[in-house]
Amino acid sequence: MPMRKSYEAHEYEYRKMKSHKIKSWSRRNYPWSISPPDKHFLEDIFIQSWAPKKGQAIELGCGTGTISRWLTKKGFIVTGIDVSQTAIKMAKAQSKGLKIKYINDDFYLIDTKPLGKYNLCIDGQFLHCITDKKDRKTVLSKIRQILNPGGVFVVMSMCFPVSHKNFAKTYTTQKILGNVIYIEAEKYGEFQGLRIIQGKKYIPTRYIAHWKVLLSELKNAGFYPMIIKYFIHDKNTPEEPTSYLNVAAIRE
Ligand SMILES: C[S@@+](CC[C@H](N)C(=O)[O-])C[C@H]1O[C@@H](n2cnc3c(N)ncnc32)[C@H](O)[C@@H]1O
Repeated sequence: MPMRKSYEAHEYEYRKMKSHKIKSWSRRNYPWSISPPDKHFLEDIFIQSWAPKKGQAIELGCGTGTISRWLTKKGFIVTGIDVSQTAIKMAKAQSKGLKIKYINDDFYLIDTKPLGKYNLCIDGQFLHCITDKKDRKTVLSKIRQILNPGGVFVVMSMCFPVSHKNFAKTYTTQKILGNVIYIEAEKYGEFQGLRIIQGKKYIPTRYIAHWKVLLSELKNAGFYPMIIKYFIHDKNTPEEPTSYLNVAAIRE
């Protein structure tokens, strides 16, 4: 049997969150709503003439459904997909009364045909979980398959530069090696890409590249960036030691 992909380890985090009654991934600052910078970014997209205003939307890596619920309230018909079974159960419980289709599956492995076509695809900070370069190509080509021509792909991704000092202070169980962030995963078992660092087991958890590299990846996959917002890490906020790149791109 092939070894599990490391992003499947999110399941353990959601089980922990559920038992501690934590409702969403970005629990630190924004427990029940989208973070203000992401919300401003998404609002900026929806006022553009080329942006879809309604129709079918999909959130990849929907977690407990924070962004999916917000999109439904904007008038979209929403599908949320996540590899974590517990996240999907939590999303359903938090979305009672809303018509959101939640799918528990791995987007890397999914057959895109039955998923249908979308006008909008939101990366719910899922793309940076795909740490293998070849797998990222596969995922981007699947995103292209599910978007209608002219459809919009919204990326929200960690990127370089990083404040290494603040990173070491905040993420004491994580290490950056090249373009990948590794997390200590002694308790999770075997996963692809596992490495032994200073005698401990680490698994890849986030892909982190320079924003220029992320933009070329999008262009090479057939997406044309229309709005780019770059949030450089702020040395005064040690809890966010990495930079972020948000892009709204049109599927060519
Ligand atoms: C940083 S969390 C963000 C969750 C959610 N979008 C939010 O804003 O709260 C990234 C999510 O991507 C999901 N994920 C990672 N790899 C995935 C894959 N291959 N297929 C589907 N979901 C995946 C994880 O389980 C996790 O819920």
